[in-house]
Amino acid sequence: VTDARPIGVFDSGVGGLTVLREILRRTPDESTLYLGDNARAPYGTRPDREVLRFSTEALDALVERDVKAIVVACNTSTAVALSAARRRYDLPILGVIRPGAVTAALTTRNRRVGVIATPATIRSRAYFGAIKDENPAVEVYEHSTPAFVPMVEAGRLAGPDVDAAVAEALAPLLGERDAGGEFVFPLPPSARIDTLLLGCTHYPLLRSAIAAVAGEHIAIVDSATATASALAELLSINGLEAPTELRRQPTHVQLTTGDVAVFRSIAGRMFGDGFADVQPVEVGRTSAAAGGPAIVVAR
Ligand code: DGL
Repeated sequence: VTDARPIGVFDSGVGGLTVLREILRRTPDESTLYLGDNARAPYGTRPDREVLRFSTEALDALVERDVKAIVVACNTSTAVALSAARRRYDLPILGVIRPGAVTAALTTRNRRVGVIATPATIRSRAYFGAIKDENPAVEVYEHSTPAFVPMVEAGRLAGPDVDAAVAEALAPLLGERDAGGEFVFPLPPSARIDTLLLGCTHYPLLRSAIAAVAGEHIAIVDSATATASALAELLSINGLEAPTELRRQPTHVQLTTGDVAVFRSIAGRMFGDGFADVQPVEVGRTSAAAGGPAIVVAR
């Protein structure tokens, strides 16, 4: 069996395009329908009840468009709203946290993992719980780095000032360095991590800067890549893979609740290339969203 319908990919804004990019690499025959809630981004600094309501409204809009499965690409939304979404819709829904957590737990050798993410994701302790589920012997050190999302969206991905901002944001986790680049003792216990998990959509774009600060003894893992692999498995288990006939071209559409031109320009700053098919979308017309009746999708 195959299923030609698109995969729905949801994010608070443009950051989830890092997850989309990995999905296109891993499962190139699949069509995708991406929805970015740019009008209300960022989510990572909002209270949980807003993240839950906005996520539900946006996911309703994706489900209405007949997607065969959904990837919640936003870490914040996964942390706060994934369980509610799985109760609400009758289709497979994958978040980014468990795939990333499993990869991190399997990567660490000394059983010490650091996680960086938005304040809302860290507050939820979702990564902590998911890594402990995989291996309770792993020590998990979580740290929020709220400076990164605005920096990435401004197109600041590399350079001396980015390196300095990354070093400053990671200092509480990895230890402080003096002006000469030498570590200032005592180091925090979290400085002994051997694996750092990038628990936010935007952070893979800062990967080189983060890796330079972390040094060669710390492995960097990101949830975007791990999620794309988990999605491939999900599609295969469920008989949902796209047909692979010759000449069949998958389609890729991006919807934004915000301004189309703004979406294009932020995405261009972050990824350097245009996302061709960007269309406006309205979400949340049905005010019943968060508490309303579940939408049942016939298979
Ligand atoms: N997509 C969000 C996440 O992965 C980051 C941007 C935001 O705060 O909305 O947590």
